[in-house]
Amino acid sequence: MNILVTGGAGYIGSHTCIALLEAGHSVIIADNFRNSKPETVEKIMDIAAKEVIFYEIDVTDAEAVNIIFKNYKIDGVIHFAGLKAVGESVQKPLDYYYNNIVSTIVLTKACQKYGVNRFVFSSSATVYGDNTVPFVETMDLLPTTNPYGETKAISERILTDIAKADPSFSISLLRYFNPVGAHESGLIGEAPNGIPNNLMPYIAQVAKGKLERLRVFGNDYSTVDGTGVRDYIHVVDLAEGHVAALENLTEGVHVYNLGTGKGSSVLELVKAFEKANDIEVPYEIVDRRPGDIASCFADASKAKQELGWIAKRDLITMCRDAWRFEKNYKE
Ligand code: WQD
Repeated sequence: MNILVTGGAGYIGSHTCIALLEAGHSVIIADNFRNSKPETVEKIMDIAAKEVIFYEIDVTDAEAVNIIFKNYKIDGVIHFAGLKAVGESVQKPLDYYYNNIVSTIVLTKACQKYGVNRFVFSSSATVYGDNTVPFVETMDLLPTTNPYGETKAISERILTDIAKADPSFSISLLRYFNPVGAHESGLIGEAPNGIPNNLMPYIAQVAKGKLERLRVFGNDYSTVDGTGVRDYIHVVDLAEGHVAALENLTEGVHVYNLGTGKGSSVLELVKAFEKANDIEVPYEIVDRRPGDIASCFADASKAKQELGWIAKRDLITMCRDAWRFEKNYKE
């Protein structure tokens, strides 16, 4: 199939483009490089040894998006493009609501206009709010703690309503847990601009000596060792989950958790990183980070039953692949 991947030069988008190409699909990338780099498109083609078509556009720009749909027969869309920094979303809510909601509306309108009825949406476990773990697709969602999370919940509702109104649409809403790691080549991975917000890239930069030590945000949660528990999933497993969702799409709207179903604490991840890479990661315990929840991990059984997909790569592999990319990465 010919798949339009918005945000295809980004961290998860680039890994998904490789998985799509390796599965025999062809890829059109639309990205504005606000949170990614042009050279990533070249690396995707090098790794997959296949060409991709690329448009540098903002997917909130309806005219630019329609040019792609006019020029190519598109069989499906995977929509990653959007802003995703939780803390930044609190500071710039309008930026987040505009970018993340309008892009979804522009793309689905183009799909309707050009008769494209396969749509896979990049959602997030954040939409569950501070619910009881493990998170299950059928549970009621609670308000999230930030505008980023709200844009994902609202986009899910928009797509659900579209599917109800137009039964020809086949839509998958994929709720990611904590994507980490990198392609085994070490050529692409998570390269946040500035000081990383997320745990794994922060650990990798401490290991590299770029940052002095890891600040562990609280050790007084009711968890195995008091530190936050999350469901870390290898980004290549996540990418393969998108291909499985796309290839198993049926009419209507379908929600899937893409996680391992296993929670790991901050300190367990630090220890796994040190063991995997035979390196020390100094840390100190500091206050909790506002907005954090104690535990977040998936019930991943629905994706296994309906998509035949499970996460295969373990924490050691995630840490080894993350470190290989960090060592290779040149600013
Ligand atoms: C993980 C754990 C922190 C950094 C966020 C978004 C979510 C998704 C993934 C987009 C927590 C602790 C972290 C540090 C720490 N993004 N931590 N020191 O907050 O679970 O999820 O990223 O979809 O929507 O909310 O990920 O990696 O920031 O934190 O102790 O320097 O590590 O408290 O327990 P989070 P994270």
